[in-house]
Amino acid sequence: MDILHSVAKVRARVAQWRRDGRTVGLVPTMGNLHDGHLSLVQAARQECDAVVVSVFVNPTQFGPGEDFDAYPRTLDADAARLRDANVEVLFAPSVEEMYPLGANRSWVEVDDLGDYLCGADRPGHFRGVTTVVSKLFHIVQPDVAVFGEKDFQQLAILRRMTEELLFPIRIVGAPTAREADGLAMSSRNGYLTEQERALAPRLQHHLRQARQALEDGERDFRALEARTAEALGKDGFGVDYVTVANARTLVPAAPGDRELVIAAAARLGKPRLIDNLTLTLP
Ligand code: PAJ
Repeated sequence: MDILHSVAKVRARVAQWRRDGRTVGLVPTMGNLHDGHLSLVQAARQECDAVVVSVFVNPTQFGPGEDFDAYPRTLDADAARLRDANVEVLFAPSVEEMYPLGANRSWVEVDDLGDYLCGADRPGHFRGVTTVVSKLFHIVQPDVAVFGEKDFQQLAILRRMTEELLFPIRIVGAPTAREADGLAMSSRNGYLTEQERALAPRLQHHLRQARQALEDGERDFRALEARTAEALGKDGFGVDYVTVANARTLVPAAPGDRELVIAAAARLGKPRLIDNLTLTLP
């Protein structure tokens, strides 16, 4: 595996693969890799001849007061894991390499899909994500890019962007990897104290309860959201939102919607945890 820091070197390497007729997969990450990230790498490995994993803590998707400076940067450990996973290239650019003119003035933004769920609490967040992923798509020009369903809204927004901007890239969504007790794996789980870590799986537990209620015929989506938020609050979470949404548009679900996602964001001590479950009503 090669660790490349410059856009030019990545472009040259991919050009060589293209001349050799190899297909290319991209897995964008912010590093501090866990088994969830590695499952994305496996998916890319299966789809493509050569795999690029990017590790870049992207400043433009962090709001003021969010954890950009504190975000864990563990490049040596990440590189060791990616080498074991037979990745061809680890792309680890500096902020200057990705934002060569300093303060960015050119943005890629997907309307509306960013208004709900996490977008409501994190203005500008998804604009930062779509902009940096567009840059990565232009640099690597992969055949396939893999993203996790854990970040359901991010995946939906990136699918929309890819289709509307005609990137010739197939987006693959990978299922959420979980710890044995059900907690969705996340780089931010490392911020949890031991006590908070013991409580954290309750987030997934209450989402499962909500899904069960829908399967049992509950159709008052707003009441179900309120009940779920209350249950999380009682367990000690600071709830940002619990929403039953249309899985395609991400608009709060309305009668007649069948493809649903139950998504939640809740603070537990320092970190803000997110999780979601999908279901199809009969
Ligand atoms: P990051 O949080 O590092 O996540 C990188 C990728 O791993 C995302 O596609 C995310 O959905 C996926 N992922 C995280 N935890 C997962 C889990 N438990 N199971 C399955 N997949 C999981 O998401 C980002 O970085 C950034 O916003 C990025 C897309 C790289 C743009 O900066």
